[in-house]
Amino acid sequence: MNLKEKIRVIPDFPEKGIRFKDITTLLQDAGSFHHAIDELADYVRGRQADVIVGPEARGFVIAAPLAYALGKGFVPVRKKGKLPAETVSMGYELEYGKDILEMHKDAIRPGQRVVIADDLLATGGTTLTAIKLVEKLGGIVVGVAFLIELTYLNGREKLSGYDVLSLVQY
Ligand code: PRP
Repeated sequence: MNLKEKIRVIPDFPEKGIRFKDITTLLQDAGSFHHAIDELADYVRGRQADVIVGPEARGFVIAAPLAYALGKGFVPVRKKGKLPAETVSMGYELEYGKDILEMHKDAIRPGQRVVIADDLLATGGTTLTAIKLVEKLGGIVVGVAFLIELTYLNGREKLSGYDVLSLVQY
């Protein structure tokens, strides 16, 4: 199945010069969505993860069904101020700005094997921040899995030392 042809590319969104990869067209196609989650699940099985971590918001759409398919727990990484209980937090730089990411302090137990899943690897800033949060809590990041990788932004270099999978590359 060709997942790439289900992803819609929107020129000049959200800024001039950016070719936005719109995954909504893939998600609305039942077969493609199912196939993408199954492919990611095969990868995660090989990494023997205990828990799947996903950054908001588009990351939830990948990480939560992945966790469900594997029979594992799902842990959200959220932007500042959204999580109600005690958190760990860390600032990061995005492709188009700056923000702070948070996780609940009790979301990961020391020694747990964690896979981080998201829709897109761009600069790698979001994932690296999620990795640091997991590691702060004593988790072991055994893999990171993406639907899409923008190889020209070199996010994979930022994640060197970690096992990275992407299903579709640009
Ligand atoms: C997007 C995407 C990834 C991140 C990738 O999320 O879903 O999480 O950017 O970029 P990076 O590799 O350069 O960090 P965004 O922060 O735009 O939030 P959204 O999912 O809520 O739209």
